[in-house]
Amino acid sequence: MKRTTAILLFATTGASAFYTGNINYFSPSLHHPSLGISIPKVAARTYAASPWKPEELNFTHGVASGDPYDDSVILWTRVAPTMDNDASNITVEGTAGLFNHEIEGFVRASEKTVCVEWRVAEDEGFEVVADEGKVWTSSDVDFTVKVEAKRLYPFTTYYYQFNICDSDKKSPVGRTKTLPARGKRVPKDVKLAVYSCSNYPQGFFNVFGNTVRKDSVDFIVFLGDYIYEYKNGQYGWGNALGRVPQPDRLTFTLYDYRKRIATYRTDLDLRDNHQMFPWIQVWDDHEVSDNTYRDGSGFLSNTEDSFIRDGGVSTDSRKANAVRAYFEWMPIRQVDMDDNLRIWRDFKFGDLFDLIMLDTRQYDRSITDLYANTEYIKAISNDTSRSLMGPRQEAWFYRTLKQSSKRGTKWRLIGNQAVFSQLIVSDDMELPFNYDAWDGYVANRNRTFKTLYDNNITNNIMLAGDSHASWVSDLVWLDGPAGSYDPITGNGSIGVEFAGSAVTSPSPLGQNTTMKYTESFTKLLTSVNPELQWTDLYYRGYYELSIGYKGVNASFFGSPDIRSRNGYEVSLANFTVWDGENRLARYEKEGDKDGKEGNKVVNRDGKPVEFGSLQRGETKTTNVTYDTEGRRWFVFGKEKK
Ligand SMILES: [Fe+2]
Repeated sequence: MKRTTAILLFATTGASAFYTGNINYFSPSLHHPSLGISIPKVAARTYAASPWKPEELNFTHGVASGDPYDDSVILWTRVAPTMDNDASNITVEGTAGLFNHEIEGFVRASEKTVCVEWRVAEDEGFEVVADEGKVWTSSDVDFTVKVEAKRLYPFTTYYYQFNICDSDKKSPVGRTKTLPARGKRVPKDVKLAVYSCSNYPQGFFNVFGNTVRKDSVDFIVFLGDYIYEYKNGQYGWGNALGRVPQPDRLTFTLYDYRKRIATYRTDLDLRDNHQMFPWIQVWDDHEVSDNTYRDGSGFLSNTEDSFIRDGGVSTDSRKANAVRAYFEWMPIRQVDMDDNLRIWRDFKFGDLFDLIMLDTRQYDRSITDLYANTEYIKAISNDTSRSLMGPRQEAWFYRTLKQSSKRGTKWRLIGNQAVFSQLIVSDDMELPFNYDAWDGYVANRNRTFKTLYDNNITNNIMLAGDSHASWVSDLVWLDGPAGSYDPITGNGSIGVEFAGSAVTSPSPLGQNTTMKYTESFTKLLTSVNPELQWTDLYYRGYYELSIGYKGVNASFFGSPDIRSRNGYEVSLANFTVWDGENRLARYEKEGDKDGKEGNKVVNRDGKPVEFGSLQRGETKTTNVTYDTEGRRWFVFGKEKK
């Protein structure tokens, strides 16, 4: 038993120590402590006041864990006297410092505090407690609680629970897991589920529940668009499903972003997923606003006109509001950050793989496609000075790739938002690319490829979300000096890209697109993009990765119905990347053993894919569906439970 002495230590250091255990009082930036909340002043204001009574409080939004290391993990909950969120917006406006609560006149003071105890154990019965503590929370941080559980064993499952002090009122029991020991051999394959783009009004987050019901992975990777900023009807109507996003307006204020995240967290499958698995997540654009870049966004950008229309919240304030709410509500840790927008960070899974999480949106991105300027962005898309990540993050990214390879880590997984590969997505030959993705920042992509080739960095796997469709490609520097690419064999590739569909956000071809139309469109896409080996634009879904020393397997799943809550999923396509091959594995086509190179396909075992378009291969639509709830197979459309 490894009982901690934390409680004894806290007891001797005064009331403010209970606040210091709650990370959410601190600045999101370790290098800028002034962006945090003044704990002594909160303590001075609240210490004499009696805390909320246990019967006045509830665990309103379940529990969550995330940002696992090999010896620690972040635990999250919210304990509040109300389901609603704190309405004080003052932390990020006026003359107060960013996130500053120190001036009574600027802050709607929370006079009462909430006292919470937490513990983490190796068993569900909490017989063997590994770490525990006691913290306070208050309206200053929207009654959220975020703690770091330490002194944990690597690659070990743990259970955790919060309770309101001096009471039996307990949170649900959460399950979490630490990473494999840093630099050490990993005893078994590591399994990840990769998600992106959950839009509340457009459907139920069933696919989050599917991995819970299957208990099929170790960790969740979320690549952004956890929320969307729109008013109901601007991006899907939620009325028929009882999923009107709250508050029902475009989000600008701190309250707006708190309330929006809180509304999403009422989805039972999302909540279950947080409770069951540790998350490693980054934001995309919609955590703030559509097509965000460092100084604005696609709609309501950084102009006087926008400022008047958005009710007087500036672009910078809006970003600060969104980021503050995000740090409060997500189980993410403070890394060694240089400023409050830094979310890019990396995770080391033993010597098996490094997971490098990028921010290609908010941090320091050069101007993007804002819809009215597409031709301008096309004209400058090749400019060397343009960066999707900003120079600081780029330098860190290339250094991290080099160090990872030098250490001898087997694989590099790069979690990013937009699709990395060059992709012709439109039949408009004047504007064939999505300039809001890497195709609008060609020099940044070239610098990435150059880093890989110059340093002989192999076994690279790019992960992407954002597009609401599935794209599987060899990772190819099409216009680089690396030599020609052979799409038949995959020679000339330096890795693979797995880009996944959305949890519920609509297909790029529209919410009401048909199977027939998407299938013909995907055929067009694979015909004009040689490195694109499989794509599907119909299914909402996610993919799972199983990472081992010999290879990485990817399995893509689609949700056949997001308009009701169900556990259905369709197996769409399966791929393998063998160690050292730096391309998708090729297989003889099923039933065709003539051995011709040109007949090889990338779907595992040479089988047809369920849907979409496979280079040189077949699509055989069966609608065979697995019900993760009833644990049975059925043909979707013929039988519905
Ligand atoms: Fe999205």
